[in-house]
Amino acid sequence: MKRHGPPSQPDEPRAEDAATDPRGNMLVHDDAATWLASFAGSGRGTVDLAYLDPPFNVGAAFTARMGPSQRRTRGQRGAGPVAYHDAWGGLDGFLSFLEGVLSGLRELLSADGTVWLHLDYRSVHEAKGVADRVFGGGTFRSEVIWVPGNGARGRAGPSITHQTLLVYAARPKARIVWNSDHPDLREPYADTSLSMHFRSVDAQGRRYRERVIAGRTYRYYADEGRRLGSVWNDIPAMAANTPIRAEGTGYPTQKPERLLERIVRLSSLEGATVCDPTCGSGTTLAVAARLGRRFLGCDSSPLAIEVASRRLRDAGVPFDLVQ
Ligand SMILES: C[S@@+](CC[C@H](N)C(=O)[O-])C[C@H]1O[C@@H](n2cnc3c(N)ncnc32)[C@H](O)[C@@H]1O
Repeated sequence: MKRHGPPSQPDEPRAEDAATDPRGNMLVHDDAATWLASFAGSGRGTVDLAYLDPPFNVGAAFTARMGPSQRRTRGQRGAGPVAYHDAWGGLDGFLSFLEGVLSGLRELLSADGTVWLHLDYRSVHEAKGVADRVFGGGTFRSEVIWVPGNGARGRAGPSITHQTLLVYAARPKARIVWNSDHPDLREPYADTSLSMHFRSVDAQGRRYRERVIAGRTYRYYADEGRRLGSVWNDIPAMAANTPIRAEGTGYPTQKPERLLERIVRLSSLEGATVCDPTCGSGTTLAVAARLGRRFLGCDSSPLAIEVASRRLRDAGVPFDLVQ
């Protein structure tokens, strides 16, 4: 095990402490299901939020862009080193991998914890059946449609321009952490709603509407926006020429930090433990650390571990590397 961390300051937790602290951050090079199974029996309640962004069952190898002459693509000419293979010998092979990882996560989740499973049209429908079986009836809580804004739009038929995140609770009827009133977790009211309903103005000049529900009057301010719905189209993908390019690591299929910020804020409290068993470039881990959460990350790709380690070290985040 290697220990990483910034130079310590008096009264600040040191990397050495993080290594011996059972609650320290951890990055593990392993197969996700094998690693999760190693907690068996001892890890129950350890994880408050799990974000799982596995390969999407594309049937190709994904390469990284580690230098200016290389391309981040699916194994074509001019491509950089292979980051990971996304070929499972068919859908059944992929679903069986997924089942192993989800079963491991179920054993680790805290009573109010959630698992976010990020997929696309290639497998999300069949994967929902697997997740329903693993977590049990009554645990499926939501589905978020993420519209990254990229991708080709074909002429020959309808294009699929979204990805899907399935949200599961640890147990049926569990009361999950869901911080929906956080100011960063709100969206503007629709224009039609603003013009039709928000016609009153208070002494400070703020527009509002009032509604009477069960005999009580509730006031809603236009500038506070409404709670997030389940379609997220305000977070662009990690594509070149967008303002978020600076966070790009060159790792393929890297997700934007804003997406993870939203998920981590919605589904965990400060001090919580966030787990990403297929962490790739470490987006979840970097965001969790920045938002005051502890992380447990894993990936089977040596390149992912290299990129995530560098990213965390550059951000001054202490963590233990287990390989
Ligand atoms: C879609 S990428 C994750 C990208 C990541 N969310 C990010 O922002 O960089 C999927 C990751 O799953 C990893 N992976 C594939 N099979 C795995 C396995 N059996 N165990 C652990 N990780 C695996 C791949 O190496 C790859 O890094």
